[in-house]
Amino acid sequence: MIQEINRLIAEISAFTASTAAEVEQFRIRHLSKKGTIAALFDDFKNVALEQKKEIGRALNDLKTAALDKVNDLKDRLADADSGCSGMDLTLPGDPVRLGSRHPLAVVKNEILDIFARLGFTISEGPEIEDDWHVFSALNFPEEHPARDMQDTFFIEKNPDILLRTHTSSVQVRDMETHPLPIRLVTPGRVFRNEAISARAHCMFHQIEALYIDEGVSFADLKQTLTYFAKELFGADTRIRLRPSYFPFTEPSAEMDVSCSLCHGKGCNVCKGTGWLEILGCGMVDPNVLTLNGIDADRYTGFALGMGIERITMLKYGIKDLRLFFENDIRFLEQFTAAI
Ligand code: DAH
Repeated sequence: MIQEINRLIAEISAFTASTAAEVEQFRIRHLSKKGTIAALFDDFKNVALEQKKEIGRALNDLKTAALDKVNDLKDRLADADSGCSGMDLTLPGDPVRLGSRHPLAVVKNEILDIFARLGFTISEGPEIEDDWHVFSALNFPEEHPARDMQDTFFIEKNPDILLRTHTSSVQVRDMETHPLPIRLVTPGRVFRNEAISARAHCMFHQIEALYIDEGVSFADLKQTLTYFAKELFGADTRIRLRPSYFPFTEPSAEMDVSCSLCHGKGCNVCKGTGWLEILGCGMVDPNVLTLNGIDADRYTGFALGMGIERITMLKYGIKDLRLFFENDIRFLEQFTAAI
């Protein structure tokens, strides 16, 4: 009998199955009432008393081995059904496509970062504004032709409400609410009633900077501009200031930087001049300080404003402004940045 038990243990341990039906056949053959193991238990009655202990233990081991085998095979087949077995865990995972920052956001962050190093903090204002903040408080008299410098979107029912044409409106809000001294940069969207072309759009982005304190001079403005231009366009960049006119600054200037593509020799980007126009700036007009409740005898300030699209086009050699707003992935994915 012990031989039969050992033979069955060997048979059971060698058994494998690839279907549930095969496992069931196996169970019936060995573990049912008429199976091999039940038959051996029947025979156990006839075993001599001195062998009962040894053969009893062997029989129990046989039964356990058969039960374990059935459970093990059932588990494996269930795993295979759920797709876990046969899975190659060494295969590389599905790639996750990383997005990239929009080029305007890249350049905006770069500019804000440069001003942050000079102690300027960020301030933002509303895109829907009133006449006071966009024009009147910035020394644009009513009916003054300077208002035509920017084609404004007015709300027809209430011409006092308009879409801001420049971020200079946030200067006014800053002067109203911010304690002196003021040292702020203002990024934001602006709107002008212009036909869309490769060089113009009805919506674009500006960054404005405003510094008001006692004793702020034109030399401070010039030094700030020089630092800014070198940080943004490279250490060998030179700047030049041309006299200009803005109602809210006196004196006013426009700043050019030496062309970073041809290094001032003249190319088609700088139209042969060696210079690129980047921003408008000036000393805050004392009228503006007074209009906004700041003592113009005690305080002076400078302001500057620039278009982010224009700077981004110059930095990356982009020829058509409309590309920024089409969101073509082939264009956008060329810009990756740490910031
Ligand atoms: N607001 C002007 C514009 O949109 C840009 C500008 C010029 C802003 C001179 C300033 C400045 O702060 O001082 O064209």
